[in-house]
Amino acid sequence: MADFVGAVDQGTTSTRFMIFDKGGNEIARHQLEHEQILPQQGWVEHNPIEIWERTKTVIGTALGTANLQASDLAALGITNQRETAVVWDRKTGRPYYNAIVWQDTRTDRIASALDRSGKGDVIRQKAGLPPATYFSAGKVQWILENVDGVREAAERGDAIFGNTDSWLLWNLTGGTDGGVHVTDVTNASRTMLMNLETLDWDEELLGLFGIPRSMLPEIKPSSLPSGYGTTRANGPLRGEVPLTGAAGDQQAAMIGQVCFSPGEAKNTYGTGNFLLLNTGEELVRSKNGLLTTVCYQLGDAKPVYALEGSIAVTGSAVQWLRDQLGIIRNAGESESLARQVEDSGGVYFVPAFSGLFAPYWRSDARGAIVGLSRYNTNAHIARATLESICYQTRDVVEAMEQDSGVHLDVLRVDGGITVNELCMQIQADVLGVPVSRPVVAETTALGAAYAAGLAVGFWSSQDDLRQNWNESKRWSPDWSEEQRDTGYQKWKKAVERTLDWVD
Ligand code: G3P
Repeated sequence: MADFVGAVDQGTTSTRFMIFDKGGNEIARHQLEHEQILPQQGWVEHNPIEIWERTKTVIGTALGTANLQASDLAALGITNQRETAVVWDRKTGRPYYNAIVWQDTRTDRIASALDRSGKGDVIRQKAGLPPATYFSAGKVQWILENVDGVREAAERGDAIFGNTDSWLLWNLTGGTDGGVHVTDVTNASRTMLMNLETLDWDEELLGLFGIPRSMLPEIKPSSLPSGYGTTRANGPLRGEVPLTGAAGDQQAAMIGQVCFSPGEAKNTYGTGNFLLLNTGEELVRSKNGLLTTVCYQLGDAKPVYALEGSIAVTGSAVQWLRDQLGIIRNAGESESLARQVEDSGGVYFVPAFSGLFAPYWRSDARGAIVGLSRYNTNAHIARATLESICYQTRDVVEAMEQDSGVHLDVLRVDGGITVNELCMQIQADVLGVPVSRPVVAETTALGAAYAAGLAVGFWSSQDDLRQNWNESKRWSPDWSEEQRDTGYQKWKKAVERTLDWVD
């Protein structure tokens, strides 16, 4: 068998290709950003063609750097930004419109009308999700209603939908020469269209959004021995590699963090933060503003479910300091600037740029910086930004503990901001539990590789994968109970100030 497994990680801001060996060690990677298209307030789009071009380049470059070829890869996995919706023509492979990104809030009227009509509870019950702009179905409805010719094309069977996993699987396996139209069960669970119990598209949910079933990809497990397809020989790998793993990025990170037992949780710090708790084969319905989602389904095994706390804006708040406020030149400077002060000087920043996700689900919220006095400087704003990442995490940890009764002894973390030592220390302080980061912090791509490699016997079992997990660093809480409580009460007060902002 070949010595390596590859994984494409198609994220919100960039696409990367990584190659791993049996020990789960990184052998090569290449990563490229794509444009964030912001046509008007609240709208966020990506160009699917650009994403496919970037994917081809990162695959070719990483393979070239490591001096490897398709035959060196035992399997290929895909992981992706979830919810982001692409609608394309199955005959030409051309998208009808840009991808509408998960952060986009243009569908707020669709979401609130569902709640007003009482249909929101049907979605909560069947799909495990609150009706919100976040998920795919409203975005597909918007394209059907607003882009000329798409409704007719969908009724003819030509217009098809997928998240970016489906888009890349389509292109990697054939594109206009007849690619596969599939998705995995974790991605499907983020659309508001899949029934969590049957793991199939649900006619009633499809009806709520007016989406023809013929638009939808076939739903498959996240790790599939028979594969979703094979990469085409004239594609970016220049060879045929079985595509045997696919999962939404947050679920892939659960696999990468080997959170295979009920009660195990991880928090990924990306554009947003996503905290998932494995609830095993039990489907736990949240009473505290969390999502019920599929964690993974490996081959023929029963699906494993998770509770998820999704936070829309964390890493993107740091980007905002860089791009909009211009008070830092790069993400690393958020740490050095914040370290110039002992605390946030009474400043609280609630970055509710896309409304507030879990546990509030308030699309009427907008961001606020409160508690300012003349004494405050850029350093306080930077520190308040890092604290906002940690307080938002505390909000979802509290909800998770209430829903599941599971008390976290340690928080496993991964993703970009975990290199920020100050932020991780604040996280331990705000939560009052230790924070632990693994050696391989790229757990999303690693998880997709694991899903693919398990399917072909490259790794033999979940225990095999557990052996690969090693801690690189642990942060222990330093704050007193009183400091922790006072800080959190103030945070809650600041959150109150952001609600009811949009009419
Ligand atoms: O649900 C959105 C999430 O999948 C995006 O993750 O890492 O691309 O920000 P990321």
